[in-house]
Amino acid sequence: MNSAALALADGFDLKQLTDAFYDDPFPTYRALREHAPVKRMPDSSVFLTRHADLTAVYKDAKTFSSDKREEFGPKYGDSALFEHHTTSLVFNDPPLHTRVRRLIAGALTPHHTAAMEGGLVQLVDRLLDAMQARAEAGETVDLIEAFAGAIPVEIIGNLLGVPEAGRAPLRGWSLAILGALEPVLSDEVKARGNRAVTEMLACLEGLVAQRGHAPLDPETDVLTRLIQGEVIAAPGTAPGSTSGRERLLAKELLHNCIFLLNAGHETTTNLIGNGLKCLLDRPDQKRRLITQPGLINSAIEEVLRFESSNQLGNRITTAEVQVGGVTLAARTQVTLCIGAANRDPAPFPEPDCFDIGRTPNRHLAFGSGIHQCVGMGLGRLEGRIAIAAFLARFPEYRLALPAVRSRRVRFRGHLALPCSLLG
Ligand code: HEM
Repeated sequence: MNSAALALADGFDLKQLTDAFYDDPFPTYRALREHAPVKRMPDSSVFLTRHADLTAVYKDAKTFSSDKREEFGPKYGDSALFEHHTTSLVFNDPPLHTRVRRLIAGALTPHHTAAMEGGLVQLVDRLLDAMQARAEAGETVDLIEAFAGAIPVEIIGNLLGVPEAGRAPLRGWSLAILGALEPVLSDEVKARGNRAVTEMLACLEGLVAQRGHAPLDPETDVLTRLIQGEVIAAPGTAPGSTSGRERLLAKELLHNCIFLLNAGHETTTNLIGNGLKCLLDRPDQKRRLITQPGLINSAIEEVLRFESSNQLGNRITTAEVQVGGVTLAARTQVTLCIGAANRDPAPFPEPDCFDIGRTPNRHLAFGSGIHQCVGMGLGRLEGRIAIAAFLARFPEYRLALPAVRSRRVRFRGHLALPCSLLG
């Protein structure tokens, strides 16, 4: 038995992470998978790292609840952040989850997602033109600020119908709210998160009032869909008969719009940023993708597996249950480590090798089960178009200054990737 790995697994505490862990958590994840796959934390929650265990938890949404009131009460107190997170569909069980999900999913079908492709290609081209002009003027360009972070915010802005002039604060709000989900929270980060929720609520209230007076096509406009609610089938009547509409409460509507921004923003920014960084670090794989552009789909799946944007998920047990051979009492908080499961050698041979042609690739980057990501088609499309177009335009890009990784355990990505684009 490897004693260094054993020590890593023994000493692991999600609330006491080191700089070395943030730089590269994968040796720790490996040690946990091998020596303590159901790891008990000092706060008596458990941390799961095996692919099979995560899959089993995702499948059983009754025993593994997503309701976060118990966890977030002490963390946020009576605050805007508490109201926001505990009203978002992702942190709720049915029936609220089912109602909101149905409305959002109806506007993000493969058909709707495909319809966004033309606008996305144009947006990416505009950003690449602006980056090229800066590069030709001799500037170093930060790929996060100028590219990876600029795409999703526009896409979600379009989805929610936020006017162009009002989009500047969206990214900052989203980063502040998601930052407050980290396991350890300073007063400053909490205050910033609360401020962001309050400001974003005010912005959305205006939009909702406007849309209430002048609805758009509910087929394509998410905000109109969420305002109008869903038609309820009358029990015991012929298919198509309705007994009226079920509408979300005002606060459910507003908080789920905020969640949509948060869900689709940093995750997709990180997919694009992590993808460009993985390729930068592996010239052989970059060359392979440039010479075989048809590999873009499997390359995106490999980035999602290898450097999963969203590394952690959470559940709470509603009854005594066994996971990985260990009995968990009811009300046990469970952290699902997606980043570790996606490097599990059981489903992924040579899991630490980044292979853009990997197949099969049954990663859990979008979760699984009833909460599986509603926007995964859109996230994939953004990643595919952004990375393919970037490589076609700047095949010789290289780092001009060191990359800056964000110091977060839940969302894995970079704050800056300063590059020389023209080689
Ligand atoms: C690479 C990009 C993305 C990644 C890695 C990602 C990841 C995830 C994960 C892991 C979950 C499941 C959370 C859980 O089970 O607790 C989730 C849920 C969700 N995602 Fe994404 N996501 C991405 C992009 C998007 C986009 C673009 C949107 C929409 C615009 C979106 C909307 C949602 C929603 C609404 C949920 C909640 C689903 C539910 O609770 O039923 N995501 N996402």
